[in-house]
Amino acid sequence: MPVYALGDLRPVIPSSCFVHPDAVVIGDVRLGEQASVWPCAVLRGDSSTITVGARTSIQDGAVLHCTTDLTTSVGADCVVVHSSHLEGCVVEDGCLIGSGSVLLHRVVVRSGGMVAAGAVVAPGTEVPSRALAVGVPARMRPDVVDPATIEAGVANYLGLAERFRQGLRRLD
Ligand SMILES: CC(C)(COP(=O)(O)OP(=O)(O)OC[C@H]1O[C@@H](n2cnc3c(N)ncnc32)[C@H](O)[C@@H]1OP(=O)(O)O)[C@@H](O)C(=O)NCCC(=O)NCCS
Repeated sequence: MPVYALGDLRPVIPSSCFVHPDAVVIGDVRLGEQASVWPCAVLRGDSSTITVGARTSIQDGAVLHCTTDLTTSVGADCVVVHSSHLEGCVVEDGCLIGSGSVLLHRVVVRSGGMVAAGAVVAPGTEVPSRALAVGVPARMRPDVVDPATIEAGVANYLGLAERFRQGLRRLD
């Protein structure tokens, strides 16, 4: 799998993680236990640090970057769905970041929050705990997120990671 050091910056990937061979992980990227990174996801820790918590999935085509001033942090037990883009933001534990969404600088998604598919969360926005952020720019729907939905996503991806670890074979 393309995992790169950049100068002295080296990714930290515990052996319990699943990183698909077509994901790209560069520099100061720190994955928690049982985190997973799926095909064509890119985590580029060149300007500062990207942190991904335990059991969190970074799904296909997601792009995580950081800036010199702003690290990017995703907590434990999160689901970062396909094609989302996160830079210089904080996602606390137990959140779901929907497909194709964009989280801009200094966004904070509080524990148990959700970002809807296709939402653009404007710089500095706080998504409260259990709120759903929807639309462009994202507006809040308070207290609508059922934690069980996110927990099911986390469990699904833990199972998928194990299945891929056991059964993935390159055929070309
Ligand atoms: C927002 C979401 C959670 C659905 O929420 P919901 O409350 O069950 O949505 P509903 O289907 O009942 O629709 C409620 C309203 O929100 C709108 N809506 C639903 N999803 C939306 C989205 N992503 N962006 C904007 N509006 C959305 C619906 O059109 C509907 O509008 P209306 O009241 O004007 O008719 C879901 O669409 C979503 O974005 N999930 C994120 C997870 C994900 O990315 N999954 C991808 C597959 S892994």
